[in-house]
Amino acid sequence: MGNALITGTNKGLGLGLTKNLLNKGYKVFATCRNIEKARELEELSKRFPEKLIILQVDAVETNAGEKISKFLNGEPIDLFLNNAGVIGPGIQRFGAVTSPDWLEVLRVNLIAPLLISQSLIKNIEKGLEKKMFFLSSKVGSISDNTGGGMYIYRSSKTALNQVIKSLSIDLLSKGISVIALHPGWVRTDMGGPNALISIEESVNGMATVISKKSLDDTGKFFNFDGKEIPW
Ligand SMILES: NC(=O)c1ccc[n+]([C@@H]2O[C@H](COP(=O)([O-])OP(=O)(O)OC[C@H]3O[C@@H](n4cnc5c(N)ncnc54)[C@H](OP(=O)(O)O)[C@@H]3O)[C@@H](O)[C@H]2O)c1
Repeated sequence: MGNALITGTNKGLGLGLTKNLLNKGYKVFATCRNIEKARELEELSKRFPEKLIILQVDAVETNAGEKISKFLNGEPIDLFLNNAGVIGPGIQRFGAVTSPDWLEVLRVNLIAPLLISQSLIKNIEKGLEKKMFFLSSKVGSISDNTGGGMYIYRSSKTALNQVIKSLSIDLLSKGISVIALHPGWVRTDMGGPNALISIEESVNGMATVISKKSLDDTGKFFNFDGKEIPW
């Protein structure tokens, strides 16, 4: 197994994906924005001292990508998982949207993933798997939007999907696959306690998708159970 880099790993799906990949034998470079809030991750690094490398970086800090790339010091990255994300304010209906709330969500969910990808591309080119997966959301699918509302979060993931599509085209000649993943509605801090599935169920499903999908599937959007989602 090679090297993986995952963003937003102190809790939720990022922590679950980190555990899953460590158990598979990957060396994981795990980013989190506040090590003091990453107790479980630090405990995990005691079990995997050679294999889990924690890097404190806020996805939206200036030059976050350069900071990660400098830290990697030329190491190849076989698998990049952009997981860090925010949902934004509780109320996002028509009439309640404000510009500062929206911009904050776009910075984390849309802008940071592309800027970090730009900085990591040399490392990914050196990897054997050459895979980039982005945690998107089904609510970002325009075809699937029958409920309306949720302007801030929905639009951030719809725009991320467009970035993923362009990346898949631009990076095809380098043999790099770029894929959007919906983790399901998951019981995390973001998904809430009434969500439909556990972190383990989502992560096991996503890990299977990640291992099976490759360049033939680049530029597509998959559910955690492997079904394709229309854009
Ligand atoms: N849960 C669901 O039902 C669901 C459904 C569809 C899609 N997703 C997507 O799945 C991904 C993971 O979600 P989750 O449910 O695991 O959410 P979560 O439990 O809220 O975890 C989000 C992670 O992102 C990190 N993060 C947020 N802003 C960051 C920043 N500026 N810099 C670095 N890290 C940052 C958080 O760190 P802090 O703890 O420091 O805030 C945390 O580690 C997200 O992209 C989300 O949109 C989730």
